[in-house]
Amino acid sequence: MTQTGAQNLLLGVTGGISAYKSVELARLLVASGAEVRVVMTEAAARFVAPLTFQAVTGNPVRCHLFDEEHEAAMGHIELARWADQMLIAPATANFLARAAHGLADDLLSALYLACSAPVSMAPAMNVHMWRHAAVQQNLSVLASRGVSILGPASGEQACGDVGPGRMLEPADIVAMLGSLSHRGVFAGKKVVVTAGPTQEAIDPVRFVGNRSSGKMGFALAEAFVRQGAEVVLVSGPVALSTPPGVRRINVQTALQMHKAVFDNMERTDIFASCAAVADYRPERSEKQKIKKAAEKLVLGMVKNPDILAEVAALKDGPFTLGFAAETENLVENARAKLRAKKLDMLAANPVGDDLGFERDDNALLVIWPGGEKQLPVQDKRKLAQSLLDVLEQQYLTHAGHS
Ligand code: C5P
Repeated sequence: MTQTGAQNLLLGVTGGISAYKSVELARLLVASGAEVRVVMTEAAARFVAPLTFQAVTGNPVRCHLFDEEHEAAMGHIELARWADQMLIAPATANFLARAAHGLADDLLSALYLACSAPVSMAPAMNVHMWRHAAVQQNLSVLASRGVSILGPASGEQACGDVGPGRMLEPADIVAMLGSLSHRGVFAGKKVVVTAGPTQEAIDPVRFVGNRSSGKMGFALAEAFVRQGAEVVLVSGPVALSTPPGVRRINVQTALQMHKAVFDNMERTDIFASCAAVADYRPERSEKQKIKKAAEKLVLGMVKNPDILAEVAALKDGPFTLGFAAETENLVENARAKLRAKKLDMLAANPVGDDLGFERDDNALLVIWPGGEKQLPVQDKRKLAQSLLDVLEQQYLTHAGHS
């Protein structure tokens, strides 16, 4: 077995500027032990010469459907059968649309339809294109048909815009393919993830809430989907797009989150509670905006239900993973929380001035009743994957005992 799990990997390259990164991707795939054959669209061949991929993979590159010489050597259906895995990187908005609609008017789109091996796509496009409803709908269609959508990454784009749309780095794609080929434990499991903050209204314009970007929970939901899980993501107000293949339920308050979680508990195998739920809510929410007349304002607060503790207390309930953001005594507080809420696992991270919140990276101390593992600072997407690797072991032990 290769690092990516594939012996024969068909790499489709479509026409985006990040096609140049796919040369490095092809090199890494070859280095990981895969036999790589590259198929390029006509537009891709305007960005990178097919000969470059040929030199890197040691195999001829195909660009056209009606190419007698190549069809005689290995016909396109044969090529589709040859593949143990297909990866399209970069996948442009145009290619995603054509794949979602089942067009087969060039070699790569025909191969996609003819290929029965697992398919992954690494989208790359401008941030506004990525956010367009048409693109998001096409991604959902592809994800619902079993295509694994890898990325995109967020950051500065070739066109100068900033936001999601950049193709993932080649090394990250290779790592993700590795975890994809390992779809064992979570495939077909139902996972409910909470993410983001809750907002508890004081009056129609003000609220009490926690600092939370939702990035960790969204990354976790994405990682579970990649491994074949059915994921329900209950999210507080955040500015993040829904990972393809995830069913998202938007809520605002802790009470709404509580209801959404319990409405979806049936058949749930794993509950991952990433949300920063407000522990208290104002006793009453004023109907009108409070005027700033008084020198002192006293808010009466009542306790919100502890969603995670209630799920953990369910008879025959799911495996529970909690999160704890701590500003001091990380280990002691985390251990106490694991015991008090009777959790199967808890991921704790120190937070403070420049740690944890609203950042793209983080570190976690993962603890469970019989052990612990420190996950070093890394991008939240990679961290989510590492967390799943740890969780897999504990989940198997837990499933073995229940
Ligand atoms: O006790 P603390 O709020 O630090 O616990 C954090 C964990 O509990 C997180 O996993 C969080 O999602 C969950 N939680 C919850 N409902 C609350 C408060 C916290 O599910 N009301």
